[in-house]
Amino acid sequence: MMPNGAWLCWASLLLLVRPTQPCPSGCDCFVHKVFCSDENLAAIPPDVPPGTTDLVFVETSFLEVGPWAFSSSPNLTKLVFLNTQLWRFEPDALRGLPGLRDLEVTGSTFTLSDHTFANLTSLGQLTLSFDALDALPEDLFLGLDALESLQLQGNQLQTLPWRIFRPLQHLKSLDLGQNHLAWLPEGLLYPLSSLQSLRLSDNRLSQGLRPGIFAHLGSLQELFLDGNAIRELPPRLFSGLFHLERLWLQHNAIHHLPATIFSDLRNLTALSLQGNALQTLPAGLFTCTPHLRSLSLSHNQLVMFADGAFANLSSLEFLAASHNAIAQLPAGLFRDLQALLQLHLGSNNLTALPSGLFHNLSSLELLNLSRNQLSTLPAGLFNTNYNLFNLALHGNPWHCDCHLAWLSGWLRLWSDQLLHTRTYCARPAHLRGQVVPTLREEQLVCPVSGHPGPDHRLAGVGWDAVVADRAARSRCTYSNTEGTVVLACDEGQCRWLNVQLSPRQGEGFLAMMFNASQGWDLKSSCGSVRVTVSLRAQAVGP
Ligand SMILES: *[C@@H]1O[C@H](CO)[C@@H](O)[C@H](O)[C@H]1NC(C)=O
Ligand SMILES: *[C@@H]1O[C@H](CO)[C@@H](O)[C@H](O)[C@H]1NC(C)=O
Ligand SMILES: *[C@@H]1O[C@H](CO)[C@@H](O)[C@H](O)[C@H]1NC(C)=O
Ligand SMILES: *[C@@H]1O[C@H](CO)[C@@H](O)[C@H](O)[C@H]1NC(C)=O
Ligand SMILES: *[C@@H]1O[C@H](CO)[C@@H](O)[C@H](O)[C@H]1NC(C)=O
Ligand SMILES: *[C@@H]1O[C@H](CO)[C@@H](O)[C@H](O)[C@H]1NC(C)=O
Ligand SMILES: *[C@@H]1O[C@H](CO)[C@@H](O)[C@H](O)[C@H]1NC(C)=O
Ligand SMILES: *[C@@H]1O[C@H](CO)[C@@H](O)[C@H](O)[C@H]1NC(C)=O
Repeated sequence: MMPNGAWLCWASLLLLVRPTQPCPSGCDCFVHKVFCSDENLAAIPPDVPPGTTDLVFVETSFLEVGPWAFSSSPNLTKLVFLNTQLWRFEPDALRGLPGLRDLEVTGSTFTLSDHTFANLTSLGQLTLSFDALDALPEDLFLGLDALESLQLQGNQLQTLPWRIFRPLQHLKSLDLGQNHLAWLPEGLLYPLSSLQSLRLSDNRLSQGLRPGIFAHLGSLQELFLDGNAIRELPPRLFSGLFHLERLWLQHNAIHHLPATIFSDLRNLTALSLQGNALQTLPAGLFTCTPHLRSLSLSHNQLVMFADGAFANLSSLEFLAASHNAIAQLPAGLFRDLQALLQLHLGSNNLTALPSGLFHNLSSLELLNLSRNQLSTLPAGLFNTNYNLFNLALHGNPWHCDCHLAWLSGWLRLWSDQLLHTRTYCARPAHLRGQVVPTLREEQLVCPVSGHPGPDHRLAGVGWDAVVADRAARSRCTYSNTEGTVVLACDEGQCRWLNVQLSPRQGEGFLAMMFNASQGWDLKSSCGSVRVTVSLRAQAVGP
């Protein structure tokens, strides 16, 4: 046994020696890590410390890596060449590295041979990005049985040898984005039965997607096909992808979707079709994807949705359909979307909305109706959207008469005024350019006439609208100063009481206990009332 004193002495000797431990010139050495970023470094330094695990070259100028170049660093697990002048590994350059797990060559103009990576049996991650590669040898990956991640983005690949991925049965992530791929050979992806993420973004795929190309990717969770030139999807293109959770199809030229295209994607949670050329959606498109949480249909040419287009999407939290040409929405369109948090309908051609349209959207926090052709909205449209804090209405030709009085009041009470500084009246002439929520109730009037003439157009709208119209004319909306208790009455009776017991943005906290009673003095331009609310909680069941 070494006596304590001697141990201390040996340890301090070690500390003294450390700074003078050799580090190759042009490099910085840390514990087991060496970074070489000297642009004058014209060869792999021969004196890399033997225990090195990570070796990184940045912007160095050597062109080649010779045979057995790293054999004096047998513990190397990570080797990186970043924006270097390297263009070739000589044969056997990477021999003697049985423990190498991570190899990256990014930003080089680089050529490869069949044997460049031979015998790297531990390699788990291989990155060859932005290397101007225009072809890959068929046997390049032979022996890379442990490879889980292969990143080939940003090259100039136009196609791939169809047998190239055969050795990669454990591959989980493959990135082929930003290449020039116009078609994929049949069978190319068949061996990749463990693949979870496949990126084909920003290529030139158009008609080149064959029906069975993805059929063997039973583990796939995420598929990127965005930024291509895809016009049509074969009906069974995604069949068998039972684990797929995210599908990115944005920025293509898809003008038609087969009705069953998504019907195997039972676990799909996110789908983007943004930036395509869709004019309609086939009926039942989403019936088999009930777990969808995010759906983007923005920037298409949609003119309408069929009733039931979003049936079953009871987990949907985000729905974007802005920048289309939608003119009408069926009353029950959003019926099943109880979980919806954001609804984007801006930049469309909407002229009117059905009164119950947002009725079931009790979670809704953001609604964008800006840049449409709306001149009025049915009274009480947002009555059940208790969490709607973010409402965009600007860019519509609002007709500021008695029919809009409820909206002006609602915006004052419930909505952040800063959101509505550009929500202007277009009519009548004397109110043009006024901001809707700043108008007083007595400014929002309808022309009085002895006969029902001007209101004839209400006949087809139904009873609700007529009642709303009457109420708007003679209605008083009473509220406390915090706006947390609101009572709406017409001449004869009070029809609507809303007591907010949870805190709202920027307002004081209100809460009631079980079996409690509380009173409020409410004011309006018609006068004031006192409201008392009593709660009695009773146990139910056993
Ligand atoms: C390589 O790693 C092993 C185990 O971690 C260690 O025993 C050995 O000393 C290291 N080799 C060098 C040259 O540092
Ligand atoms: C792979 O390693 C084996 C034995 O270690 C060797 O015989 C063979 O030549 C190597 N293959 C290549 C292509 O380097
Ligand atoms: C869908 O996902 C759930 C949990 O995320 C998983 O348990 C289930 O097996 C998946 N179903 C399919 C068909 O992949
Ligand atoms: C989808 O909705 C239909 C009726 O609208 C219903 O019969 C079916 O069970 C629903 N499917 C799922 C998976 O929720
Ligand atoms: C909007 O609808 C009007 C008719 O209601 C139509 O004339 C116009 O072309 C539509 N605009 C777009 C962009 O579809
Ligand atoms: C709200 O959803 C329920 C089912 O969850 C449905 O029965 C009802 O018709 C929906 N209401 C509206 C106004 O769509
Ligand atoms: C609402 O949509 C318009 C485009 O129609 C967009 O300019 C605006 O940023 C959106 N607002 C919000 C809050 O999303
Ligand atoms: C409220 O009062 C009722 C009787 O009026 C009683 O049965 C109930 O237990 C009370 N609840 C609470 C939570 O105190």
